[in-house]
Amino acid sequence: DWTTGNVIEEQVAAIREQVGDKRAICGLSGGVDSAVAAALVARAIGDQLTCVYVDHGLMRKGETEQVEKDFVAATGVKLVVVDAEERFLTALKGVSDPEEKRKIIGREFIRVFEQAQAEIIADEGPAVEFLVQGTLYPDVVESGGGTGTANIKSHHNVGGLPEDLEFQLVEPLRKLFKDEVRMVGQELGLPDEIVQRQPFPGPGLGIRIVGEVTKERLDLLRDADAIAREELTAAGLDRDIWQCPVVLLADVRSVGVQGDGRTYGHPIVLRPVSSEDAMTADWSRLPYDVLAKISTRITNEVADVNRVVLDVTSKPPGTIEWE
Ligand code: XMP
Repeated sequence: DWTTGNVIEEQVAAIREQVGDKRAICGLSGGVDSAVAAALVARAIGDQLTCVYVDHGLMRKGETEQVEKDFVAATGVKLVVVDAEERFLTALKGVSDPEEKRKIIGREFIRVFEQAQAEIIADEGPAVEFLVQGTLYPDVVESGGGTGTANIKSHHNVGGLPEDLEFQLVEPLRKLFKDEVRMVGQELGLPDEIVQRQPFPGPGLGIRIVGEVTKERLDLLRDADAIAREELTAAGLDRDIWQCPVVLLADVRSVGVQGDGRTYGHPIVLRPVSSEDAMTADWSRLPYDVLAKISTRITNEVADVNRVVLDVTSKPPGTIEWE
């Protein structure tokens, strides 16, 4: 029988068996999956687990602070925060190809973990041999690892891993779908702010800028994204939509008129979707007045953006993220 209690019991036993008396590290992304994976592993091996949060500079506004606060408060887990913004932005310099971005971000993630590992084992405890990941069933399938489906995107935690990985992987959510992960998280005592959070991709805003990723573009997108999230929350729509990526078309410009002059700025794309498991999705029919508010605020408040467009494509044929 599938119950969250059974899943937890089964996974806790499997994790204890796999990790033994060694130690593990877990990357937290700020998302539901890594948080639930970490809480599950913490339940199994307690303080043999250290969580590492890599601030790659591709996070949304306030995300880092939220991980530090909410997650530690809920689990009491050991957390190390690594500021790696410069490293990631340097590695991404000049790159606009989506798959190349994903591979670079996946690779840099692992390198930062390896460095964190070196620092963690400097204290002479048992070896850190395991890396915990919140990989879900759809991640496995869509990266071509599950059923021989074609590779659609290299999710940073599956297809994006380097070949010379030094860790063994612990992936307790590999057979679960998102809604099941949420139930497991709830059962483990994680608060709603974590468990009900909308999905956010590991590569972050790096794959929501069509074109090269730069600090300036990230700051612009962070502002636009914060406005969209604020207005969706204010309208009480958070639970109605699966997620709403906000995308910057950095290589596109269009003519506008703002104040008393001509502008030549970038478009921002809103991509609100409804979905059960992210394998398929439909575009969300958001109320026009909410869309209007978001559009007005973004064009008024975010410099260099003079147009807001709505993505009305289902998945398939479009994916949820643009890259
Ligand atoms: P797509 O764009 O493939 O996205 O329709 C499906 C779901 O997966 C999320 N996503 C990711 N999550 N690492 C993640 O942890 C990734 O590399 C990644 N790429 C996409 C996306 O936000 C959506 O919920």
